[in-house]
Parts: sequence; C-alpha cells; structure tokens
Amino acid sequence: MKMKRYRIATIPGDGIGPEVMSAAVSVLETLAENRNLALEFVELQAGDKTKAETGVALPEETLRGVEQSDACLFAAVGETAKEVILPLRQGLDLYVNLRPAKVYPNVPHVGGDVDLVIVRENTEGLYRMIGDRGPDWGVSMRVITRRASERIARFAFDLARRERRRRVTCVHKANVLDTTCGLFVETCRNVAAAYPEIEYEEMIVDACAMKLILTPGHFDVLVTTNMFGDILSDEAAGLVGGLGMAPSGNIGEKHAIFEPVHGTAPDIAGRGVANPLAMILSAGMMLEWLGERDAAAAIEEAVIKVLRKGETLTPDLGGSARTEEVAAAVQREL
Ligand code: NAI
Ligand code: MG
Repeated sequence: MKMKRYRIATIPGDGIGPEVMSAAVSVLETLAENRNLALEFVELQAGDKTKAETGVALPEETLRGVEQSDACLFAAVGETAKEVILPLRQGLDLYVNLRPAKVYPNVPHVGGDVDLVIVRENTEGLYRMIGDRGPDWGVSMRVITRRASERIARFAFDLARRERRRRVTCVHKANVLDTTCGLFVETCRNVAAAYPEIEYEEMIVDACAMKLILTPGHFDVLVTTNMFGDILSDEAAGLVGGLGMAPSGNIGEKHAIFEPVHGTAPDIAGRGVANPLAMILSAGMMLEWLGERDAAAAIEEAVIKVLRKGETLTPDLGGSARTEEVAAAVQREL
C-alpha cells in the first residue's frame, strides 16, 4: 500500500502555545510511525512575539505556508489574536468553526452526559469588523448573507447525517434582529427541508444559553451565527470540564486550521503544566478532516485511556502531571 503523505503547517504562537504544540506534534509523530502515514511538519511564525520581532503579527509567508500545506495546526496567540486568527479565517475562507463538546471519563464537569457539536459561521456577522468610532459612540455592522448562511446550514446537516446525529438546532435572535437573524433562520429552514430524516428546531439564543445548563443532553448539533457561536461554545466547553479539553476546527473548501479553543493562558505559561489534550484532540480532528478516520479514532481512544487511568492528569483536571508527561502517556497508549 502506498504511504500517505501530508504536509502539516504548525503555528505554535505565544504563551502555552509552543508547550501544547510540541506535545501534539510528538503524539502525531508516534502515531505516524505506527501507521502507513508520513507527516512533514512545517513550523510557521505568528503572534505577539512575531509582531515584536518583525512588526507584523501574521507575516505574508505564514499565510502562504498555510495555503501550501494539506492542513494546519494552530496553538494560541496572545493580544494579537484578532490580527492573526480573523485574517486567517477570512483570508482562507474557513467558513465553518466546528466545536464539539463532549464529556470524557474522569473529567470533572457540571452538566450531565453531554455530546454536542456547535457549528458556528466563521466569516461574517459582527466579526466582519466593519464599523466606526467617534469620541462618544461606536458602531459595528452585522453582515449576514444568504450564501454564507446556506453553506453553514448545509455543513451542519451533512455532519448530522454523517455522524448519525438526530437533531439540528438553529440558534438565533430573529425576534429582535429581524433583518440579519431573520435571513439566517429562513435559510436554515429551507436547507432543513432537504434533510427530512433529521429533526430540526429553532431556538432563541438567550433561551438556548439557559437550556444548555439545565438540559445539556437535549442538544445534538447547533448551527448559529459567528458571535453567538463564539459565546455558546465557550459555555459548552465549561459544561464538559473547561478549556483544557475543548478542541476545534476552522474548515473551508480547500483549507483547514485546527486549534484548541483556549488562548495563551498567561497565568500558567512557561511552567510546563498546561493541559495538552485540547491541542491533541484538535490534531485528531485534523486527521479526521484529512480522511484518516482510523488514525483520528486512535488518538481519541488513547486520550480516553489516559483519562480513564487517571494517573497522568494536569492540575486543571485535578492531577499534578506536566504537559510532556501527559503527551508521553498518550504516546504509550498508541
Ligand atoms: P485563556 O484561554 O488563555 O485562559 C483562560 C483560563 O483557562 C486561564 O486561567 C488559563 O490558565 C486556563 N487555561 C487555558 N488553557 C489551558 C490549558 N490548556 N491547560 C490548563 N489551563 C488552561 O484565555 P484568556 O486568559 O482570556 O486569554 C489569554 C490570552 O490569550 C489573551 O491575550 C487572548 O487574546 C488570547 N486568546 C487567544 C486565543 C487564540 O489564540 N485562539 C483564544 C482566546 C484567547
Ligand atoms: Mg471564544
């Protein structure tokens, strides 16, 4: 059998970024050795440190490097996040932000048995950054188009079909934001008609925020606009044990960038105690997107085994292990 080759761009960034990135790369290297996979890693610069050194947070060659790779792993950048992530998402047209929230064994959490996926529109809404500021006022424009709403709704329903999920919930605020959310809901409803086997419902965002806490098990696939998806996905991460366990993907037609939901964690950076599992699970999502479903499943199974044993956990999960010890434990399970 011919060996599959992939070129993977890595952007370690700032703070705990490089710590969790090296953990994930070492796990991927072990996985590749045991399988018919060849992974070539190309490290690219972006973030606060890059800006201090070169004057720009996202150098042109980093954007080109991501474009020339098969997929990209991104850890975290600090204060320059909006100069790095937004241009990457919008510049590469990564129109889906996919954020699963799932309860893993031995992870302290508040909710019940949660296994949901948030499908967030990633290119428009309030994050198009169109606005103006005077001394005593500020204006932000919220952009919603039928094209972007339709492709995000299709992605959500296709995912539900592929993963045999039962329900898609469209989350909106059309009762107040009738122009923008009105168009979003109308478009989702039209797309839903093409997937009769999947239950479809609509929910207003504030009620949804409450129901996520009271009855998280109700939810399966949620599809929503950019900012609502940003906020609800952090809430969902909180339900399943916090940011150390929350992976995500930014996915387009041709390119994709996978990243933990967390940031640079300045309070623990440099101490070697960051939880690398969100980054490692993001690497698993990347393999799934590349079509390497067995390899992706192997990563998740190895993570679950480490959690079940409960011997090698970072402080956020109640343990005392270091980042590289958790990575080594995952490698042993592979
Ligand atoms: P944060 O996610 O960096 O940290 C929030 C809290 O969660 C902190 O107490 C931190 O210690 C903890 N935490 C986060 N990841 C963890 C991990 N892997 N293991 C253990 N504990 C973890 O969010 P915060 O503090 O709001 O932002 C810090 C910096 O990160 C800011 O400069 C912000 O702009 C940037 N940021 C970057 C993001 C990105 O690159 N995608 C996303 C969010 C924030
Ligand atoms: Mg966020």
